[in-house]
Amino acid sequence: MCGIVGYIGPRDATPIILSGLKRLEYRGYDSAGLAVIQNSSIEVRRDAGKLERLVSLVEKEPVQGKLGIGHTRWATHGEPNARNAHPHMGTTGEVVLVHNGIVENFLELRDELATEGVEFHSDTDTEVIVHLVERYLSTEIGLEEAARKALRHLRGHHGIVLISSKEPDKIVAARIGNAGGVVVGFGEGEMFLASDLPAILEHTRDVVFLESRQMAVITEDGMDLQTLNGEKLEHEIHTVAWDPVAAEKGEYRHFMHKEIHEQVRSTTDTIAGRVDFESGEVRLPHLNLSKEFAQQIEKIVVIACGTASYAAMVGKILIERIVRLPTEVDIASEFRYRDPIVDENTVVLAISQSGETADTLAAMAAGRERGAKLWSIVNAIGSQAMRISDGYISMQTGPEIGVASTKAYTAPLIDLYMLAVLLADLRGVIDKKQRRELVAELRHVPDLVGQCLQREPDIQKVAEVLRDTSHCLYLGRGINMPTAYEGALKLKELSYIHAEGYPAGEMKHGPIALVEEDMPVVAIAPKDPWYEKMISQIEQTKARGGMVVAVATDGDELISTLADLVLWVPQVNWMLSPAITVIPLQILAYQIAVMRGLDVDQPRNLAKSVTVE
Ligand code: M6R
Repeated sequence: MCGIVGYIGPRDATPIILSGLKRLEYRGYDSAGLAVIQNSSIEVRRDAGKLERLVSLVEKEPVQGKLGIGHTRWATHGEPNARNAHPHMGTTGEVVLVHNGIVENFLELRDELATEGVEFHSDTDTEVIVHLVERYLSTEIGLEEAARKALRHLRGHHGIVLISSKEPDKIVAARIGNAGGVVVGFGEGEMFLASDLPAILEHTRDVVFLESRQMAVITEDGMDLQTLNGEKLEHEIHTVAWDPVAAEKGEYRHFMHKEIHEQVRSTTDTIAGRVDFESGEVRLPHLNLSKEFAQQIEKIVVIACGTASYAAMVGKILIERIVRLPTEVDIASEFRYRDPIVDENTVVLAISQSGETADTLAAMAAGRERGAKLWSIVNAIGSQAMRISDGYISMQTGPEIGVASTKAYTAPLIDLYMLAVLLADLRGVIDKKQRRELVAELRHVPDLVGQCLQREPDIQKVAEVLRDTSHCLYLGRGINMPTAYEGALKLKELSYIHAEGYPAGEMKHGPIALVEEDMPVVAIAPKDPWYEKMISQIEQTKARGGMVVAVATDGDELISTLADLVLWVPQVNWMLSPAITVIPLQILAYQIAVMRGLDVDQPRNLAKSVTVE
């Protein structure tokens, strides 16, 4: 979950590293540091807190050099203080290292190294790696070989980057397992590396993603790729299409606000080129789906975490309704521990913005072990989830930087709808007319999203009312039950207000006891097949003195007489309604957090890519 940046070339490494770290701060923001080789010795600057603390430190104590590495941390072992911040230095001061991941056997390794006389200067698991490298370094064995020997001791998933003052012409980077992505960027006479693309996109779009157990030795002229056993490997350079400007805040105060407002474009791009409105055909070429396999599928299991899991719940309803194919949703962190029943006729479909979430990757591996076909809906290009899948749908939203997911929630809702239409078509469940009708509904989505966004000033007024509440219940039914979960998650992660999403029908089984004047109830009640049930729920809440904020369809006079406040949304086909009803809830959570003076893009304790279990 940490961010890593590296540079080697003719320019000063420090500003390049700091600007790369700025773009990766969403990955972790407990502490930050950098190391640069200056006049043949390694200079380290690091501090607790956000990146701006490191920037001030570097202003006070400047450091300059042609080679350097940097890190922004999400603490796993040891408090987020300066001594635990990366880079970590060995005993001799010749080698420093930054790391993303968890050394699962670090206690064992630390005891072993302590017996050899090594003294530790931090509470991190990472520090054992640099001492292991030093154990093998000698005049005969250089950094490259010492790193290879050392890294073979590690259990767990890692991205690791090392430099040595004795070999100031190279950076050694390695990836072990799923969760420690390393991308190497190729410039003209200079090279970059990072844990994630946005850090280097302003410099280059020509990249190589390291695979597990690969190590790269990077000089300013290029890269040698090898396995951790030292076998040389060929590499193929990919040119990525992401626009670096997409990773900028532009006129917006926060990335999250920008990303909410990008949803007209991201929903348009999600549909563009994938549907033929004339014929109703859906094209998802990277899914590699044959008619034969489509007809062979007996079950789909959708696995995901957090916001992505709520998209999965919507997907279950869509696939079951349109395709009539049994579909289960599993929280990825639970899936592998319950001995799931999947086989070669099952599709395990992962949904992940980052494509790096450790739990999701582990669930995919569990599916693979049992012979299932692996599909994914992923945003981060070249991510592990995308690469290990038999077929994938790319989200087409561009980078999502705000820690709270927004556009990477609405995009998969549309992807899942298109997937359902495609499967239904290939399995012969729908005819051409039905296919055209289903696909025609997609055309309206971007415009309806835009209409919701224009209502931000009205949503802001509701935010004013709710800004000081301590608790909030979100209720929904049917296809908008996941919208209630997502609305509540957005509020709690951004504003730290205790919020719960509930299936509205469950209220009478207990939670209704919570209803009173001080417990706002957000009822998602658009004109969909569950509308009347939601009206009853709103009435029951009002009868007990609760305050109701409804998400309702334009022109619904009944709701305006029942609810205290209304977040209006335009009329939409019910199957696509979650992509619309969630918009005011994203804005509501965003506005409340801003009013409470909170850090919207980097809420406390969170990180964008959760690469630990
Ligand atoms: O990258 P992923 O989509 O796999 O991430 C899954 C969750 O960690 C993520 O959705 C998380 O719940 C966000 N904080 C939600 O805003």
